[in-house]
Amino acid sequence: MKIVSLSENLNIEKRIAITPDIAKKYKSLGFEVMLPKDYGLHLGFDNDHYKSQGVNIIENEKDLLVDSDVILQLGLLSDENLSSLRENQNLIGVLNPFTNKEKLQDLLKKKVNSFSLELLPRITRAQSMDILSSQANLAGYKAVIESFACFEKAIPMMMTAAGTVPAAKVLVVGAGVAGLQAIATAKRMGAIVFATDVRMASKEQVESLGGKFLTVEGSENLETEGGYAKEASEDFKQKQEDLLSETLKKIDIVICTALIPGKKAPVIIKENMIKNMQIGSVIYDLAAVQGGNTAYTEVDKLIDRNGVKIMGEMNILNKLPISASSLYSKNLFNFVSNLLDKKTGKININLEDEIIDKTLVK
Ligand code: NAI
Repeated sequence: MKIVSLSENLNIEKRIAITPDIAKKYKSLGFEVMLPKDYGLHLGFDNDHYKSQGVNIIENEKDLLVDSDVILQLGLLSDENLSSLRENQNLIGVLNPFTNKEKLQDLLKKKVNSFSLELLPRITRAQSMDILSSQANLAGYKAVIESFACFEKAIPMMMTAAGTVPAAKVLVVGAGVAGLQAIATAKRMGAIVFATDVRMASKEQVESLGGKFLTVEGSENLETEGGYAKEASEDFKQKQEDLLSETLKKIDIVICTALIPGKKAPVIIKENMIKNMQIGSVIYDLAAVQGGNTAYTEVDKLIDRNGVKIMGEMNILNKLPISASSLYSKNLFNFVSNLLDKKTGKININLEDEIIDKTLVK
């Protein structure tokens, strides 16, 4: 079986799907690994590094696709490359099935197997393959670093002979994977941390990290069976707005992570709330790509509203692509290992396996 990965468009994606360490692991599973020239050079992995792990470096990218069995990517391939895929090839990545529906249907017609890893079920056995968790963890950490770098005061409390500098107050909106990592990171750096979520299960997790959970009074628990958030009712939204309007007057930094799968992100931090925030406060919006959790978020722009800075990026993971690639390629490796029939050494699409069934685009 031949496993390959094509270079991503470096202007939008700096992560890679096969690091040299992981290439070696595919070799030990019996795969032949082929990569284009300079595949990981931008991350410091040169061709010799890959060759030393047994990878065949191919001069012409087009040749790679021709006789490959498994293609590992971040996003979907270019239209030109998609058109050259053929029956029984397996394409695995973050294929964005909601946006790329038509292109994936075309692949289905050609009998190409497309596996989209954002569809992985959140079950214990899938944890080692969970790209949403591994990447959200890093994003939560980096959002804190980026916002703290933009904040013009100190974060931890400092008692000096010249006086006391108070600790910064951080609010994390949405305490899922990214939010919990943001809480842990902000706490480690000495901030006082508050958090809120529509899922009551997250209260205990927030408190175990030393954060103070802000409960919207009288709210029902808005959690689906799969552990995700449901869209909040108008009543909940009003109560949440009242609670946050008061809280935000005293907050220095806000990290927004609130998402509802398959829907536009809820606008939680409204114009009037931002107007009442202290000058110099910073909001980092990790929901920016899905429309943003604030009224003013714009992707890849630093907005200043009455002295409050609001920022959000297309792909924050491009700011720590080595760590992100390391985890992403391990997630992919665990997924491919599960697909491989160890006896025959071939890919086995066993639809009785929930992980395979849920991720295969049908
Ligand atoms: P996500 O990225 O879809 O959303 C982020 C957070 O925003 C969630 O906690 C959500 O409840 C919250 N949120 C949505 N709307 C909100 C609103 N209006 N106000 C405040 N908060 C709002 O979620 P993520 O991080 O992917 O986690 C989803 C669930 O999956 C969690 O319960 C998590 O613990 C669970 N999980 C389970 C895994 C496993 O068992 N294998 C692995 C990873 C996560």
